[in-house]
Amino acid sequence: MVSGMHRKTYARISKKAIEHNLKIEQTRLGDDCELFAVVKADGYGHGAVEVAKIAKDTGVSGFCVALLDEALELRKAGITEPILILGIVDAEFAPIIAAENVSVTVSSLAWLKEAEKRMIQQKEPLRVHLAVDTGMGRIGFRTVSELKEVENNLNQSEAVVFEGIFTHFATADEADETQFNKQLKIFNELVASLNNKPKFIHVANSATALWHQQVPTNLVRYGIAMYGLNPSGTTLSSAVSLEPAMELISELVHVKQIQAGDTVSYGATYEANKAEWVGTIPIGYADGWRRSLQGQTVLVDGNRCEIIGRICMDQCMIRLPREYPVGTQVVLVGKSGTDQVTMEELAEHLDTISYEIICGLTLRVPRIYV
Ligand SMILES: Cc1ncc(COP(=O)(O)O)c(C=O)c1O
Repeated sequence: MVSGMHRKTYARISKKAIEHNLKIEQTRLGDDCELFAVVKADGYGHGAVEVAKIAKDTGVSGFCVALLDEALELRKAGITEPILILGIVDAEFAPIIAAENVSVTVSSLAWLKEAEKRMIQQKEPLRVHLAVDTGMGRIGFRTVSELKEVENNLNQSEAVVFEGIFTHFATADEADETQFNKQLKIFNELVASLNNKPKFIHVANSATALWHQQVPTNLVRYGIAMYGLNPSGTTLSSAVSLEPAMELISELVHVKQIQAGDTVSYGATYEANKAEWVGTIPIGYADGWRRSLQGQTVLVDGNRCEIIGRICMDQCMIRLPREYPVGTQVVLVGKSGTDQVTMEELAEHLDTISYEIICGLTLRVPRIYV
């Protein structure tokens, strides 16, 4: 996809905000706990390599990604720190994973055996983290007997290093802790059943790190909070001050006055009932600016302006309080005057989570680092 470098619509990414969010978390961690920055999905839309470089300079110990390709992208960019792939990679790629000194998640004995078969004459060992499904219902070992079987297998293997074991909570961002405590108990019991403990025993994503600091974990997989967003949306308030790293900026490319009875955009669903000023901004659903954002407000000169009519593929229209010149800045997410539009606000409008919005911003929108 071509990036719109000649259009003044861009995502402004603040390096300082990412540094701030990481540094605050680093000061909260115990000495024996390492911080891994989660940069999967192109750094949650912020740019994986750029975010990894900022995080590296801030002193994180390693990175988490979801795909082998995401790990390879970091290696290609010169990131030499440990990388853990959180998703399931096809076992046939075990030799590449090992050669690139990347760690991988194992979720079944069958996968491990298949990977071992491929590790013949491999110089570097395959480093594995066992996923434990304590209630997320996604991937991982579920019982003591499954875990014992895989541990025995690992003990006999020369090609594989048992580096870590982890679980993922389904409700760490919710006020009710019942499910969280249930999962934690299962995890502790499963880990206790191991004869040999691996180097890393980890349970914490951002929400766990923010609201369940007491959990036993020596690695934190820090994602959304590094980007300055509250994992719970607006449900729980964050104990630490998070600085949103991404702002979304555009400009007015066309301004006109319409009269009562005039309509705006596809379907002619918006009809003015009096004379009003309308501005057009060059962003649309092909940029990840979803159609259902119709009705959301954006900021022009500190004023809230409603998106009127249907959002098109590349453009959308807003109602202005008065005439503004073409070229006037429009803040879709971020601060203008004394007001601010947040990703959490958009998420509420779309009945989704901020993760989906930042990951959904397409590569047509250039990321500018400041
Ligand atoms: C296993 C695992 N750990 C950590 C994370 C990071 O989560 P968050 O962005 O909420 O910190 C994710 C993200 O989906 C994940 O799947």
